[in-house]
Amino acid sequence: MDHSEPSPVAGPAGYRVLTASSEAHPLVKTGGLGDVAASLPMALRELGHDARLVLPGYPGAKKQVRELKHLMDLRIPAVVGTVHLYGGLLPDHDLPVYLVDAPAYFCREGNPYTDVSGRDWGDNPERFLLFCRVIAHLAMGLPPLDWRPQVLHCNDWQTGLAPALLRDHEERPATIFTIHNLAYQGLFDRATFDRLHLPAALWSVSGLEFHHRMSFIKGGIVFSDRVNTVSPRYADEVRTQRFGCGLDGLLRQLGGRFRGILNGIDYRVWNPADDPALPQSYDSEHLDLKGENKRTLQRRFGLPRDEEAFVLGHVGRLVEQKGVDLIIAILPRLVAAGRVQLVIQGAGDRALERQLQDAAAAHPERVSVFVGYDEPRAHLIEAGCDAFLMPSRFEPCGLNQMYSLRYGSVPIVHNTGGLADTVVDASDAALSAGTATGFLFNDPNPDGLWYAVEQALRLHDERPQQWRQLVLAGMRQDLSWQSSARHYLELYAEAIASREGLLQVATA
Ligand code: ADP
Ligand code: GLC
Repeated sequence: MDHSEPSPVAGPAGYRVLTASSEAHPLVKTGGLGDVAASLPMALRELGHDARLVLPGYPGAKKQVRELKHLMDLRIPAVVGTVHLYGGLLPDHDLPVYLVDAPAYFCREGNPYTDVSGRDWGDNPERFLLFCRVIAHLAMGLPPLDWRPQVLHCNDWQTGLAPALLRDHEERPATIFTIHNLAYQGLFDRATFDRLHLPAALWSVSGLEFHHRMSFIKGGIVFSDRVNTVSPRYADEVRTQRFGCGLDGLLRQLGGRFRGILNGIDYRVWNPADDPALPQSYDSEHLDLKGENKRTLQRRFGLPRDEEAFVLGHVGRLVEQKGVDLIIAILPRLVAAGRVQLVIQGAGDRALERQLQDAAAAHPERVSVFVGYDEPRAHLIEAGCDAFLMPSRFEPCGLNQMYSLRYGSVPIVHNTGGLADTVVDASDAALSAGTATGFLFNDPNPDGLWYAVEQALRLHDERPQQWRQLVLAGMRQDLSWQSSARHYLELYAEAIASREGLLQVATA
């Protein structure tokens, strides 16, 4: 492809931003990346910018995109078959979406990363390199599309090679790389690097090489103009050895080019006053109506109807990060506490799934578990529980605690990452000031979690007025995308300015 002739620029005023992601709600989602990849560009459009999204053309995504049109075909070296580029709009928003349709790579059962049994697709490097090659073409402006971004915003390792592929293009857009989770790096062996026919110069410690392996995420970190992660606290944490997953030194070296920007939540999708998944809508003015959702939750999850029960909820991927094993470890204490009910929904690690199902079988009156992925049920849990557990060992941002704040279900969270940045602990001072919104604990172990649960139970039972104030403070907190989107705009402006500065130096 010849990129020497930039295609004309179209679109409304503001920045032209291409967001690249391997998932986006509601087309395809396995976790918070899916929520953010859709809601940030939507927020940018609402602020007057021309944001667009590019995604692999999974069959489910192709089915849902509105006004789907075939735009062009591409031949990509070493790729089996022709790659078709489609364009359309998200189902429920006028956000333009490009789909990279390569059936041999993306048309499969399972999820974007694994087969139905949970095993990573063996050809993930080929799949996401192909995706990155098309992202790079789009970033340079494909003539038939009549659109060329000023900013390419890549997300997580699956898009990390796009900034690497663009590094030497003088006319390239400014590049941003967002780390949603440093623990997933896209690491492959040297033979894979050779098989992918990437430029040999990329195999270096100042390129993609990471301890003799090839790292997709390093491509994004090393070659982007600006790098960020999804909360200020996690940005501090990943620059330490404890949380840096081996990349803390590199992130420290970035200095002011790296920072944390807290995610927002999409109030159109997560709003208890208007949520089709709930039997009863409510808001902070009508908090008493929330109880109807608790009753439905108990019924739907097969727990005894009990208005006095203190219902704890959890929704999440069942992986070590989320600390579900800590919840399992305190089960005997929860059961002994008498009136606690626990509702858990998640999928992932088979051993954790089994342990949770065994716990539910052993305590059918107290514990109910749904193994699987189900959006409406996740909304019902957020609305129907009294408190929401997130004992994550680390948490780059976390969306569920923000959903639970919004839904008046008090978050009980480990004092880490975005959990620490979004929840205000119910200390005596914060309770008196009316700023408390939840419970934070410092040690990610069963005793730490149990201590926070006990505190929550005590406040709920002994000081109902203060509990109510805590709930209302959380519900009234501004968690919308508006302010976060503005921080991204600042990052884009800096990236564009640094790009222009470099170009001036190069042409002087
Ligand atoms: P992460 O991205 O690490 O999984 P987040 O808290 O940022 O964590 O986001 C998780 C998102 O995925 C939330 O929207 C949550 O509701 C959703 N989710 C996770 N597991 C499930 C599940 N089993 N069923 C429905 N939604 C789920
Ligand atoms: C990741 C993180 C989570 C974050 C989400 C969206 O999956 O684990 O903490 O909220 O991305 O940024």
